[in-house]
Amino acid sequence: MISSLPITLGSIYPNLQSWIAGRNPSKVLVVSDINTNKYCLPLIREALPPNTIHFVLEPGIDQHLEQVKTLDTAERVWTIMHQHAIDRHGLVLNLGGGVVTDLGGFCAAVYKRGIPYASVPTSLLAMTDAAIGGKTGVDFLGLKNMLGVVVQPEHVFVDPIFLQTLPPRELVSGYAEMVKHALLGERELLDSITSMGPPLRAEPPAMFKTLTLSIQTKISIVQADPMEKGLRQLLNFGHTIGHALESWFLQSPDPLTHGEAVAIGLIAESYLARSTQLQWLNTILGASFQHRNIPEWSFEALWANALHDKKNKQGTVQMAVPGKNPFELQMLATERRDFEKALRYYNNLANTR
Ligand SMILES: NC(=O)c1ccc[n+]([C@@H]2O[C@H](COP(=O)([O-])OP(=O)(O)OC[C@H]3O[C@@H](n4cnc5c(N)ncnc54)[C@H](O)[C@@H]3O)[C@@H](O)[C@H]2O)c1
Ligand SMILES: [Zn+2]
Repeated sequence: MISSLPITLGSIYPNLQSWIAGRNPSKVLVVSDINTNKYCLPLIREALPPNTIHFVLEPGIDQHLEQVKTLDTAERVWTIMHQHAIDRHGLVLNLGGGVVTDLGGFCAAVYKRGIPYASVPTSLLAMTDAAIGGKTGVDFLGLKNMLGVVVQPEHVFVDPIFLQTLPPRELVSGYAEMVKHALLGERELLDSITSMGPPLRAEPPAMFKTLTLSIQTKISIVQADPMEKGLRQLLNFGHTIGHALESWFLQSPDPLTHGEAVAIGLIAESYLARSTQLQWLNTILGASFQHRNIPEWSFEALWANALHDKKNKQGTVQMAVPGKNPFELQMLATERRDFEKALRYYNNLANTR
């Protein structure tokens, strides 16, 4: 346990095995996807009781899982839960990246008004962010995380061993959320990330330290404000613009990963906030992420997406960004003209690389 939130960082098999044996659930539903079913399930199979059933998520037509983080998929999960007569003494065990932990957590939280769930995050992004804090949900009407609830998992098991099979693009995607946590004011994390790059590289000891610090940052914010009444909004840094981009690029032939969208969002929002860390950010993210041009003709749709994303006042978009002091929340009311300026600022970085 690395805090009072039930999170174990370390060898997956013995920890999961003894935890499940101690809980003795009536049934276990493992929610995975086709990759984590193939690469990650073998590492936990022996820890699962005989009364285990599986739901394996298949990606959408262009191979992206985000396209199936939908209510339709949730309905399929609930149908299986019903068919196998899973009751409130059952357990949903998420084995996957953020799509699986968001979707599986949501299915558990809503089914029969809520049954317990636990998560084994297998992507860097899910280990450092998505699986921690209890936010669950699905996309709806093409907008990110429109439907969801905040319900804490009973336990989260983090083991970096799963990163060994994670595709490089997905590993890089996870860096974005660690960088976000560092920018919120955690100096030691910022130094740890700086020592990993640029470009960011996952050498095991440095990665373990950075991951631990990043998880601790997320935990301390979630504990201080579990229901996002104030401070927790800081975790949305980079996400107002990031989500607008992620939703828009979902319709394109080569969608952005969540982390790629957040990386652009961090740069654009830091530009708007006149952050003193902007240069550091450009260096560290510029060397690690491929530059993606945001076409000017998408700006109108992106603005419409951003207006949906947060509580907005009179045609401005409210963005949560770090203040001057560590862990200080600042809300930026952004007008469309500045929003577009920030996107152009990002686009122009391509010329400076
Ligand atoms: N709930 C939250 O607080 C929160 C926070 C951040 C992000 N999110 C959500 O998380 C999602 C993104 O998560 P993600 O980046 O993990 O994407 P993902 O779940 O789509 O996983 C990325 C890809 O990596 C594969 N994969 C995962 N682990 C693997 C492993 N160990 N070996 C081989 N392949 C593996 C998956 O099959 C998938 O193809 C988004 O939907 C985002 O909205 C939620
Ligand atoms: Zn995120």
